[in-house]
Amino acid sequence: MAVCKNILKFRGEVSREDRKNLNGHRAAVFWFTGISGSGKSTIAHCVEKRLFDCAMRAYVFDGDNVRHGLCSDLSFSPTARTENIRRIAEVCRLFTDNGTICMCAFISPLKEYRKMAREIVGEADFYEIYVSCSLEVCEQRDVKGYYKMAREGKIKNYTGISAPYDAPDEPDLIVETDRETLEESVSKVEAFILDKVRL
Ligand code: ADX
Repeated sequence: MAVCKNILKFRGEVSREDRKNLNGHRAAVFWFTGISGSGKSTIAHCVEKRLFDCAMRAYVFDGDNVRHGLCSDLSFSPTARTENIRRIAEVCRLFTDNGTICMCAFISPLKEYRKMAREIVGEADFYEIYVSCSLEVCEQRDVKGYYKMAREGKIKNYTGISAPYDAPDEPDLIVETDRETLEESVSKVEAFILDKVRL
């Protein structure tokens, strides 16, 4: 993997501490995991708006968006999913250095992917949020029509249908979108994040 040689890290004049003091909050990564249609992106974007309205620096990294640019060359094979998560985690590491509260909405279906993300970002800055929702409910929602296509075999390796999803054993927070209202889930996540980033 590593092909760069003779590269030294450059330390700038502005520290992470300086940015934290300017922003008035810590930076961290809140990693949402859950199957497609569980509500990861919806919740993350609602929370982002609330934090923005409080003048906080927050940004959502979203699977569907990132796969149009940074990761547009990647498929859904295990190797490609690993690379997808690796790139996002590396970008988030830079963003936390920049003082940003990162909310990452990726299926990240296997524990090993999430472990890798945690290692790249660093234990102290990483929180896992499990967006739990039964497959039945996600299939009923089928916002993009992809579950139907996956059932018909028109999409291969579809998480929950023809590719595995490992639920986290000990997430830092769980929201259950098949039992809670959107407002309840958003408020739980917002409160959790505020508690972690408050100075
Ligand atoms: S991940 O597994 O690599 O973390 P990611 O979150 O980036 O996935 O992308 C998931 C989104 O891609 C889904 O919400 C869905 O809209 C779309 N998608 C397309 N093909 C697949 C597939 N085979 N499995 C899962 N999601 C897919």
